[in-house]
Amino acid sequence: MKPLIAGNWKMNPNSAKEAKELFDEIKKGIKTAKSEVVVCPPFVYLSQLNGLSLGAQNDFYEEKGAYTGEISASMLKDLDIDYVILGHSERRKYFNETDEQINKKIKKSLGQGLKIIFCIGETAEERDAQKKSEVLEKQIKEGLKGVTREEMKSINIAYEPVWAIGTGNNCSVDETMSSVLFIRKTISDLYNREIADNTRILYGGSVKKDNSGSYIKDAGANGLLVGGASLNADDFVEIVKSAE
Ligand code: 13P
Repeated sequence: MKPLIAGNWKMNPNSAKEAKELFDEIKKGIKTAKSEVVVCPPFVYLSQLNGLSLGAQNDFYEEKGAYTGEISASMLKDLDIDYVILGHSERRKYFNETDEQINKKIKKSLGQGLKIIFCIGETAEERDAQKKSEVLEKQIKEGLKGVTREEMKSINIAYEPVWAIGTGNNCSVDETMSSVLFIRKTISDLYNREIADNTRILYGGSVKKDNSGSYIKDAGANGLLVGGASLNADDFVEIVKSAE
């Protein structure tokens, strides 16, 4: 399985000019990369960037109509966007997204032929209360409700412990490995062993160039979802290389 290295730019950078510069530098740096690389900029830059696989950071589950401020999966498809990140903890936290809404978005996006980076992860409180497995299992089961075996080919799961995001406190290799195994077992129980083995499970949360390689080599992850470090072209390129 080819590793998937995704850069989630979140609400950055501040201008189209900076976005284009960052994108072009990344493009230059990863020319010979063996991993699959996808860059996920804010919506407004999507149509201005090309030459690399692109992902959106969200979409909406209705096709079109009176939903002020929303962007549909079909609009993304029309722009030749390959991926969409759904269920990110920042959307769950700041925009109150529920498992049910995330599930609707996943199904709508799959229907439009988009590939999904489906984010799950426990908060510090849930982890301290020994509820990690329960939380991950619920997020997976509810998020993937009604997703067919065939559609699972387009699903990538990003394990992003909330306490590790943007804190510099990245999850240890051992703990990541146990979460990746748990996620795979949950997919296997829901679908089957083959689908579980073929579903890419990414790690995200304070990934930097000096810790990135170990998630792929030692923790059994099949890729990375990189936030802050994807805003520095040199660092992101190093991270892509470390996965090889
Ligand atoms: P950081 O890499 O900045 O911790 O962000 C991770 C993340 O949320 C990627 O989606």
